[in-house]
Amino acid sequence: MRFSPGDSVGPYRVTGVIGEGAMGVVYQVVNGVTGRLEAMKVLTDDVSHDLEQGERFLHEIQVQARPEHPNIAQVRTAFCEGRTLIMVMEQVDGDALSGVRCRLRSRRCGSSIRSSRRLDTRIQRASFIAT
Ligand SMILES: Nc1ncnc2c1ncn2[C@@H]1O[C@H](COP(=O)(O)OP(=O)(O)O)[C@@H](O)[C@H]1O
Ligand SMILES: [Mg+2]
Repeated sequence: MRFSPGDSVGPYRVTGVIGEGAMGVVYQVVNGVTGRLEAMKVLTDDVSHDLEQGERFLHEIQVQARPEHPNIAQVRTAFCEGRTLIMVMEQVDGDALSGVRCRLRSRRCGSSIRSSRRLDTRIQRASFIAT
């Protein structure tokens, strides 16, 4: 299921796309009741019919919804729209890691690239632990 700016999903209105990963698209949405901006993740169409990917996403939602951690975006709610599973979470400000790495690379700063590689490794390790 793909959304466009202006679409309504439950109490949320889509305002744009924040990012896209291997599994899903993350939209910026506004809660029409509270007025707060949130991030809404939906699986991309090509993986949304895959049972295993659906289960992985459900697992991701449940892990991410565990009691608060300052470095993990808080899950606000999760629900199904038709047969599509949707996660709404706090919107985290900042650039995607790819953009940060790209900027570091363009500065040709060796130590920063090394530290960004270390960051990547830690993120991969953290996702491995979480799954
Ligand atoms: N809570 C969030 N707030 C702001 N941006 C987010 C949030 N979650 C994800 N994003 C953006 O959306 C992109 C894709 O999300 P991600 O969860 O990595 O999808 P996938 O599981 O498909 O890789 C991220 O790289 C990031 O830029
Ligand atoms: Mg990702």
